[in-house]
Amino acid sequence: MSIVNQLQRQHLKQLTPYASARRSMSGGNIWLNANESPYSNSYSVDDSKLNRYPEFQSKPLNQAYAEYAGIDASQLLSSRGSDEGIELLIRAFCEPGQDKVLICPPTYGMYAISAKTFAVGVTEVPLLNNWQLDTEAVIEASAECKVIFLCSPSNPLGNALNTDDIEQVLQHSPRSIVVVDEAYIEFSSGDSVVNWLERYPNLVVLRTLSKAFALAGIRCGFLLANDEIIELLQKVLAPYPLPDPTVQIAVHALQTSSLERLQQQVASLLSERTRVQKNLEQTPLTLVSESDTNFLLYECEDAADLVKALADNGLLVRNQSAQRGLDNVVRITIGNAAENDELIQQLKDYFS
Ligand SMILES: Cc1ncc(COP(=O)(O)O)c(C=O)c1O
Repeated sequence: MSIVNQLQRQHLKQLTPYASARRSMSGGNIWLNANESPYSNSYSVDDSKLNRYPEFQSKPLNQAYAEYAGIDASQLLSSRGSDEGIELLIRAFCEPGQDKVLICPPTYGMYAISAKTFAVGVTEVPLLNNWQLDTEAVIEASAECKVIFLCSPSNPLGNALNTDDIEQVLQHSPRSIVVVDEAYIEFSSGDSVVNWLERYPNLVVLRTLSKAFALAGIRCGFLLANDEIIELLQKVLAPYPLPDPTVQIAVHALQTSSLERLQQQVASLLSERTRVQKNLEQTPLTLVSESDTNFLLYECEDAADLVKALADNGLLVRNQSAQRGLDNVVRITIGNAAENDELIQQLKDYFS
């Protein structure tokens, strides 16, 4: 038996790592499989201090994002993407081999994988047939779960959860941390729950620059919560979580002129989403849920075949069929107009 087999933590033997879009599919020239923005905006970086370690938490960055989100900088932590925020919550609140987190599938895969990585249990309370929370069941199960992960708007579904239901969970699960992952909030016509931070000491909101901000490559996310939670998470945060170039670019992205550009890019993506959706109505694809995000989710007859056929022509979309309740379902990120034209054409050819 190898040294790794002998020494590794037992629970890791069974763990299947997260199959990220970039890890599970390579090649292609049109990437519509990771819910990234098609816009590559230009930034310049001051390289005069790259010999120095960066700040533990950058004041200018946290101040800029706090202003953008309408909260106090003390209610915020910046992290290596919101994926790190998910992991910090599990590490700070859950005892390995003892505690559980609650998820509502179909949902973002990293909540369960992060928990399992730390030998923390996962309780599933599936969404209802209308893809909304089974509020009563969540509240009942929350008695045994330290952290509840709600994704709104949802990846992979695209829809927003009813804010009344989220509030019910917050009110009736006061002994659990309720995390609302708002990675796609800039695309949503619904409201953020960030204004509730004062009202609910158990609320955590996750945000990211990877989607509407078009900065997946710099790895920058934010965790918004009351000061006490932020102080606890800082205990388990790495000493230098964000590289200096990341911080510089993120600060630029939060300036007024960049935010105006973001609004325009979001508006273009939303109108492209409407156009793609209209065009795909003429194919046998069935929309699974209305979208409040930069992607659309479709049911088809054979998702594996469809994904492969598109990939063979250089166009990558994501098969979501492994998710509970999503047999033969593909998720398609909205690209730029030319990419979407190509997608529409390829789908028409595939079904002709
Ligand atoms: C719902 C949701 N949360 C979090 C993340 C992770 O984002 P980040 O790039 O900030 O780690 C993603 C990425 O796809 C996501 O879809």
